[in-house]
Amino acid sequence: MLVAGLMSGTSLDGIDVAIVDIAKAKDDGLAVRGVATHCVPYDPTVRAALLGVSNCETHTREIARLHFLLPRLYAEAFHATCERAGLKAGDVALIGCHGQTVYHEGQPADVLGHRVASTLQLGDGSVLAELTGVPVVSDFRPRDIAAGGQGAPLVPYFDWLLFRDAERGRALVNIGGIANVTLLAAGCAQAQVRAYDSGPGNMAIDALVAHYTEGAKRYDADGEIALSGAVDPELLSILMSDDYYRRRAPKSAGREQYGREFVQMLLQSGLEPADLVATVTHLTAATIADSICSQLREPEEEGFQVIVSGGGVHNPALMRLLRSELPEEMELATTAEFGVDPDFKEAIAFAVLAHETWHRRGSNLPSATGARRQVVLGKVSY
Ligand SMILES: Nc1ncnc2c1ncn2[C@@H]1O[C@H](COP(=O)(O)OP(=O)(O)O)[C@@H](O)[C@H]1O
Ligand SMILES: [Mg+2]
Repeated sequence: MLVAGLMSGTSLDGIDVAIVDIAKAKDDGLAVRGVATHCVPYDPTVRAALLGVSNCETHTREIARLHFLLPRLYAEAFHATCERAGLKAGDVALIGCHGQTVYHEGQPADVLGHRVASTLQLGDGSVLAELTGVPVVSDFRPRDIAAGGQGAPLVPYFDWLLFRDAERGRALVNIGGIANVTLLAAGCAQAQVRAYDSGPGNMAIDALVAHYTEGAKRYDADGEIALSGAVDPELLSILMSDDYYRRRAPKSAGREQYGREFVQMLLQSGLEPADLVATVTHLTAATIADSICSQLREPEEEGFQVIVSGGGVHNPALMRLLRSELPEEMELATTAEFGVDPDFKEAIAFAVLAHETWHRRGSNLPSATGARRQVVLGKVSY
């Protein structure tokens, strides 16, 4: 079955499309074969509008409009991907569309005397189904929240399905805006999967670079700025002392932790731009490595593999630091070595999650989200 996955992450860089062929594997699992991938960057005006409605009080009109604009952009990206792969839209049986998160509050807050957890992904599934003629699964997170979960992370189910190994323990690390980690002990069952956000991914680095270049650059291309600077040990140790890094999993982070206020605080350090970028790049690498080591018992480290995906794999400064922060006996690889394009792992994951929903199978992991039970995720627009 050909399934497309559409993902747009917290970095707000653009729309990732992956088309995969999903079949039953011998061991009752799924075999996922890549067919096409394509990334369509957001136009700067769209990016600014999305940033404008992310985590702030805003006019409902802008939210409603973006909710209906995004599926048009998603449909264009989907059609462009099909065309590049020589496919007709009708060859694809199903689309899984994550949408663009503009608000996420996985922990219940006090709302008019009730305890309410909430999340909002823009990009309406009905519009996307109408524009593509392909059934769409969208809105994956609410059902997990309804079942008492945090609505995130959802990729661990995919990680478990494709990356678990009978003999070796593995950590799957996605370095997008935020860094997400899935821990798969050797031979682990679904209920043993642990997952959490280790802290910042590229988000703080991106914001600093955008600030210093007045928006001319969106990220530290090839880690050049970080590589030209020196880490400030004092600031690094202050940043690392944040309580968040000592909390046990499950835990999740977002733009509210590493967005505007965090960057304002960093800028007040008065460090040279390159030194500040180097320090924050180090923070990302060190918090990922520390979080993995602190969750493992020592014997588990033997032959342990850390497998990275997300835009962060393109930042050599970050990858080198991650290598040096991890114990020597751990292997460091990217998902490319396992046949999964690191830039499209999350899009592929949402194709697989849509496939599970289509077959009425649950695909949240209660051990990762905190839900009371496994539930069928998402809404289907036929
Ligand atoms: N060549 C590169 N050098 C350094 N960083 C890069 C490079 N390419 C991508 N990135 C980083 O990856 C980010 C996008 O990663 P992505 O996995 O798409 O995140 P998200 O899932 O949050 O959208 C960019 O914002 C940038 O920080
Ligand atoms: Mg992205």
